[in-house]
Amino acid sequence: MRRNIILISILLCGMVLCWILYPDRASSGPYLDSAHGNTSYGVKRSATGFPADYAKGNCAHCHEQHASIGGAEPDPAGGPDKFLLMSPNFSGKTVIPYIQSDSVCFYCHYGSGTLQSPAFNNYSYSITFGGNPDATPNNIFNTFNSTSYHNLYDVYRFIAGLSGSKSFPNFPADSNPCSGCHNVHIAKKSCGKPAGSYDPTKSAISRPTGHDSLWGDDDIERLKTNFTSYYQSPYWYGSWNYEPNNSPVYDGSNLPDYNTFCTDCHNNTNIIYSTALGRYLRAIDWVTPGGETGGDKHGKNDATNGIDIDNPYASSPLGISVGFVLACTDCHEPHGAPNVMLIRQVVNGGVLYRTISSVTPTAGDCTPPFPAGSKELGYLCNRCHMDDADAFGGTANKWCYIHHESTDRPYPLNQCGFCHSGGDGGGGGGESMSCETVSRNPINCNCCHFHGSDDNAAPDGRRTNRRTF
Ligand code: HEC
Ligand code: HEC
Ligand code: HEC
Ligand code: HEC
Ligand code: HEC
Ligand code: HEC
Ligand code: HEC
Ligand code: HEC
Repeated sequence: MRRNIILISILLCGMVLCWILYPDRASSGPYLDSAHGNTSYGVKRSATGFPADYAKGNCAHCHEQHASIGGAEPDPAGGPDKFLLMSPNFSGKTVIPYIQSDSVCFYCHYGSGTLQSPAFNNYSYSITFGGNPDATPNNIFNTFNSTSYHNLYDVYRFIAGLSGSKSFPNFPADSNPCSGCHNVHIAKKSCGKPAGSYDPTKSAISRPTGHDSLWGDDDIERLKTNFTSYYQSPYWYGSWNYEPNNSPVYDGSNLPDYNTFCTDCHNNTNIIYSTALGRYLRAIDWVTPGGETGGDKHGKNDATNGIDIDNPYASSPLGISVGFVLACTDCHEPHGAPNVMLIRQVVNGGVLYRTISSVTPTAGDCTPPFPAGSKELGYLCNRCHMDDADAFGGTANKWCYIHHESTDRPYPLNQCGFCHSGGDGGGGGGESMSCETVSRNPINCNCCHFHGSDDNAAPDGRRTNRRTF
């Protein structure tokens, strides 16, 4: 709060000079060190009516005293706006498509038509931190206008306490939704990729519970040590090096602790509404151990018995065969994705086999005997787990081996009709059958695999009650 009063007085007494006159003020050092305040690549608005001689990094590229500059009203017109911004902070748009005026950020973080000069690019997480050679999306605006996206209206309502179970002290009712994860006055540029270098001490993000400081810039805020010592970095695209910067570092000591970051909102207690999904989100327990009675096995809870997994996990330099902890960003984009549920386009060194256009089962899909269902979710799983192609040279994205033949299989190969429809290669028969020869209609993976899942959907008597995510 004190910081806000100082900032507001700085703003009112003239945005051009004050941070130079009061270099000890809370905002000055951090602002000048920030990406926006940077004197070589920081903010520079180039718009009709805007003075061309304002220095790069000047607050006035985003803020306008009295909604005007020198008596004229430069683009974007209108105002005065909250926080003396050049445009409304956020329009309140409930679903995509977003247009440029929906967020003040989009005036610059935009493709052709950006007010920033020179224009610049930001890419998806899969590109910047995963090495996807694809060059699109190349700006934040397009990334949010994707198949799935963090809905700005819901994020805004959640952080401001207008919806759901949580509010954070730093977000008044006119906050920008992007501020839930970024602090515009201190955010730095860590990436540089796909061109340039990566510097983990320069973080772009702030936790919603710690809005006034960056998250991940100090080494105690990295995934290794802060969250776990059992993180194995996935491969960088097409390489034996690892994320997030195509280097040999394999243990998350160079990665912001995204688990702590994302679980500020997505934990086991917060109630979060999603307008796009039309329902409340599932709670996520990434921390509770206990095997089949614990939280998610991709989190701190350990896999039970064995896993059928690809590299780098199968021969991990960590020297473990189970007990791995994954990061949310190993599977998810933070902004938007061409797959549903913010699922990344590149995972563990390769592009998903195909686009995942739906995971949610349709009515009847999860009642045994199961009708033929979608196995699109398998495109994600087989970036790390062994499908039949990996297990015995069978068909890609066919999942018989893991469920029926592995030493850790949940379901012996018998009584097919309890679960499957269709197919050939034997019926009620016994263990003489083999995944190499049988075929059956697939079952929708999402009946049994989602955050917090077990195999409750399996028929009576065949249920294993294992934790299946
Ligand atoms: C006046 C133009 C402008 C506006 C408005 C603007 N930005 Fe930026 N932003 C930039 C520029 C320029 C950079 C540095 C880009 C670069 O070189 O990658 C940047 C960098 C960033 C970074 C650091 C990461 C990086 O890759 O550089 C974050 C995070 C960020 N902006 C978030 C926001 C948010 C959130 C908003 C709205 C609340 C916003 N920006 C509004 C121009 C702008
Ligand atoms: C990249 C655009 C951008 C730049 C550059 C920028 N601001 Fe801001 N400022 C914002 C946005 C957006 C908000 C609203 C924050 C929110 O909604 O969370 C804001 C809010 C504020 C506030 C209200 C209190 C707060 O912190 O939320 C003050 C005061 C302020 N800015 C002062 C400044 C000063 C002084 C400078 C230059 C040293 C500056 N700003 C540079 C975008 C910018
Ligand atoms: C739910 C949290 C969240 C929200 C909401 C969010 N971001 Fe991000 N943003 C992230 C994360 C995580 C990263 C990637 C990590 C990093 O760069 O440190 C990121 C990265 C960025 C970057 C750097 C991109 C690059 O090339 O690496 C910019 C710029 C940015 N965000 C702008 C925005 C803008 C503008 C908005 C609102 C329209 C926004 N973000 C909303 C979490 C979020
Ligand atoms: C192994 C890949 C993977 C990891 C790691 C992962 N997720 Fe997910 N996530 C998924 C998949 C697949 C779905 C879609 C199925 C579902 O809804 O649970 C999903 C769905 C979600 C959803 C929507 C849930 C709903 O209501 O349907 C949220 C929120 C989410 N993930 C957040 C997170 C967070 C936060 C983390 C880290 C703590 C995380 N995820 C880690 C794969 C992953
Ligand atoms: C500031 C709070 C906040 C943070 C931090 C946050 N989220 Fe979310 N997230 C939300 C809200 C609110 C929704 C519901 C709106 C929606 O569905 O987009 C949501 C929805 C989601 C969904 C479902 C998206 C869909 O398809 O509708 C996924 C997946 C997800 N978040 C993953 C993540 C991951 C991964 C992180 C960390 C990188 C993260 N979230 C950080 C607030 C947050
Ligand atoms: C980025 C790599 C990655 C992706 C993608 C991934 N997993 Fe995993 N999964 C792992 C790792 C590593 C473990 C082992 C965790 C441990 O050791 O505690 C694991 C463990 C599991 C387990 C626990 C197995 C047991 O024996 O207890 C299940 C079930 C599982 N994954 C299902 C899935 C499904 C279903 C998908 C696709 C929707 C998926 N996973 C996607 C890496 C991944
Ligand atoms: C208790 C339920 C259950 C029973 C009984 C069962 N299966 Fe399965 N089966 C599964 C599950 C779950 C999967 C994984 C989802 C999938 O791949 O469709 C699977 C996968 C398969 C697949 C791979 C399908 C694909 O395209 O991915 C084949 C083939 C298969 N089972 C054959 C059989 C045969 C033959 C029998 C009888 C001898 C049988 N199953 C009995 C549950 C069962
Ligand atoms: C009827 C419930 C059910 C359905 C449907 C189902 N699975 Fe499974 N799956 C399980 C169970 C139970 C396990 C064993 C979990 C364990 O080992 O603790 C499992 C394990 C897995 C594993 C982890 C194996 C390992 O140990 O490495 C993957 C990956 C997986 N399933 C993928 C899929 C895919 C892809 C689909 C859809 C084609 C699917 N499953 C459909 C019940 C199901």
